[in-house]
Amino acid sequence: MKGAIFFASKYGSTEQYANWIGEASGLPVFDVKSTNPNLADYDFLVLGSPIIYYKLLNRKWIQANWVNIENKKTILFTVSGAPAGKKLNRWIAESKLPNKLVSSMEHFALRGRQIPKELTWYDRLMLIIGALKNPNPVASKEELNGFDYMDKSSIEPILKYILQLQHNDFTAS
Ligand SMILES: Cc1cc2nc3c(=O)[nH]c(=O)nc-3n(C[C@H](O)[C@H](O)[C@H](O)COP(=O)(O)O)c2cc1C
Repeated sequence: MKGAIFFASKYGSTEQYANWIGEASGLPVFDVKSTNPNLADYDFLVLGSPIIYYKLLNRKWIQANWVNIENKKTILFTVSGAPAGKKLNRWIAESKLPNKLVSSMEHFALRGRQIPKELTWYDRLMLIIGALKNPNPVASKEELNGFDYMDKSSIEPILKYILQLQHNDFTAS
């Protein structure tokens, strides 16, 4: 099966993960903002997106391209400050992806990076306000001071799954 990686990224960490996955798997990597490749050329899709303000950054792209996505095997990797868990699942649910995608996609949660001095003034201000209101002390500190959880080894389960798809073997674990 032939696949490709389509990522959205605001500050580069999702792009970094997409490139690492591309290098390791040999799949082509496309930025959804600057390229418009034909999705019909691929049998499976690897979609990468950060969580920005409690939503998936690529949700509008998915909606706009839904006719070409709906019948394909799809992997979604998210990049966020929060780890895998209820909060992340809620934000994905609130991103209003098509139900068919949510029920069939394979989701992998990766953790990203946030460097305060790289942020736009608006984002910096919003995160400071968010930090002041956040009852979770760890998340509040991260919103204020930033964090770096980038971890190349965390893509391993994604690579394993891609390998299964490339060999069209859905039974392997
Ligand atoms: C403006 C802004 C809003 C964010 N909102 C969230 C959020 O709601 N939940 C979360 O877990 N992480 C949030 N993050 C952390 C990002 O998901 C993390 O920094 C990610 O690595 C960004 O990906 P990118 O570098 O590809 O843009 C936010 C980061 C920024 C800059």
